[in-house]
Amino acid sequence: MNTNLSFSAPSQVETDCLAVVVLDHSEKDKPAAIVESADTAVRDAAKDVIATGEVTGKAFETTLLHRPAGIRAKRLLLLGGGKAKTFSAAELLKLAGAAVRTLKSKSIRAFAFALPENGVATGIDGNDGVRAIVEGAFVGNFDPDYYKSDRKDQKIDALTIVAKGDQKALEDALQTGRIVGESQNFTRDLVNEPSNRMTPTMLGERARKMAAEVGLKCEVHGADKLKELKMGAFWGVAQGSDEPPALIILRYEPEGATKDVHLGLVGKGITFDTGGISIKPADGMEKMKYDMAGGATMIGAMRAIALLKPKVRVTAIILATENMPSGKAQKPGDVQIAMSGKSIEIINTDAEGRLVLADGLCYARQLGCTHLVDAATLTGAVVVALGYVNVGLFANDDQMYERFAKANKRAGENMWRLPLDDDYKENIKSSIADIVNAGPRHGGAINAAMFLKEFAEDTPWIHLDIAGTAWMEENKPWIAKGPSGVALRSLVEFVKGWAS
Ligand code: BES
Ligand code: MN
Ligand code: ZN
Repeated sequence: MNTNLSFSAPSQVETDCLAVVVLDHSEKDKPAAIVESADTAVRDAAKDVIATGEVTGKAFETTLLHRPAGIRAKRLLLLGGGKAKTFSAAELLKLAGAAVRTLKSKSIRAFAFALPENGVATGIDGNDGVRAIVEGAFVGNFDPDYYKSDRKDQKIDALTIVAKGDQKALEDALQTGRIVGESQNFTRDLVNEPSNRMTPTMLGERARKMAAEVGLKCEVHGADKLKELKMGAFWGVAQGSDEPPALIILRYEPEGATKDVHLGLVGKGITFDTGGISIKPADGMEKMKYDMAGGATMIGAMRAIALLKPKVRVTAIILATENMPSGKAQKPGDVQIAMSGKSIEIINTDAEGRLVLADGLCYARQLGCTHLVDAATLTGAVVVALGYVNVGLFANDDQMYERFAKANKRAGENMWRLPLDDDYKENIKSSIADIVNAGPRHGGAINAAMFLKEFAEDTPWIHLDIAGTAWMEENKPWIAKGPSGVALRSLVEFVKGWAS
């Protein structure tokens, strides 16, 4: 999708469609939908339809007017943004996605989006607004129906953002939005592929190709390296599969980076999770192709980081393998020695994510990472706790949490902190080894995080359980159902926050 800025008055922009935001300023029984444009010609064009009460400004209400009077655009799209009081850049991002999804389904290929500029209501900084619109438009332009023979792949080819302000700053914001939006779609593309088309080896290849394009260092190692590093927990999972595992390392080492800070991003890359010997029921097992979403998120985040060039050192480690039952597979009761030296009693081979991450976290620390973030589709229990809305967030350090929460707020993604009290340690006690890999069902997401905490040790660490949020169960106005690319935006903001 081509993107460009226009500094004309919205009413003077020649386009197939001009999209504008309508907000609900109503109080008590007094309805008041206001077109967020300082251009009176645009407001006049929408006056009649607003007067009928048909347009209220409620969230994701879309009204398409043809041949609107007094403006140059062929159509005017009124996008309801909800209550004016709560409107923010996060809503604007979704509205841009909704505009794209509405218009591309009508075979429109190019349109213009007017930055809400009345300001009275939104108070969104112009640069943040442009970035949000571009990100949202890219997210909305992605469809996952790759393998349909009659795939239409309708897309928006060109987006013009009508804005006011400092051209250089707005161009930068647009570039940032493009990089982050495209990187999120890159992640979604990886996650979307089925396991026969995204084996650990293929994930490694995709990471390598991307790294070469954006100038990152990349290494992809196989089973020999796992054994050399004594990654007994990772190998325990990988040993049951005929597909070789891949230990993927991406390095971003800018000049003039912040001293003494080395961020480590660790991603779960299970390209298919059958459960292993503790096999999953057939019902819904096909979804376990997205069990590499955490890894794909880290690969996509590294792409964005390489292009945005924040001055902070970042290393990503992705643990990619299948989790399969076979004559070589690990069995319940087996004991594995993790890279850190800790012994793990395998209670349930389906609790494999924490095993691969244990060695990933340990390796990141060995490589000198000073701060760690992991992302993983780790537990069904996090879906029970938080549904399909919030990412489960855990932290072993409040300062690290505060930093991450700030970045998360800027990114506008739903995340919710869950506890890690020492009292939960009971749940991962083993009678024959240091810890078990699967505790009781209650508090399942926390038990998994407690397990990981043992391997983050004293390094400040954030764990993101994205099992409920990495895959959208339904179409939304702004995003297609399927892989969401969740957490990437927060991660990129977090990394940028450390730059000197
Ligand atoms: N990959 C799953 C978790 C998952 C569930 C991801 C639903 C996405 C949607 C993970 O490896 C798993 O199987 N976890 C088990 C752990 C249990 C055996 C302790 C679970 O949540 O049931
Ligand atoms: Mn599993
Ligand atoms: Zn899994």
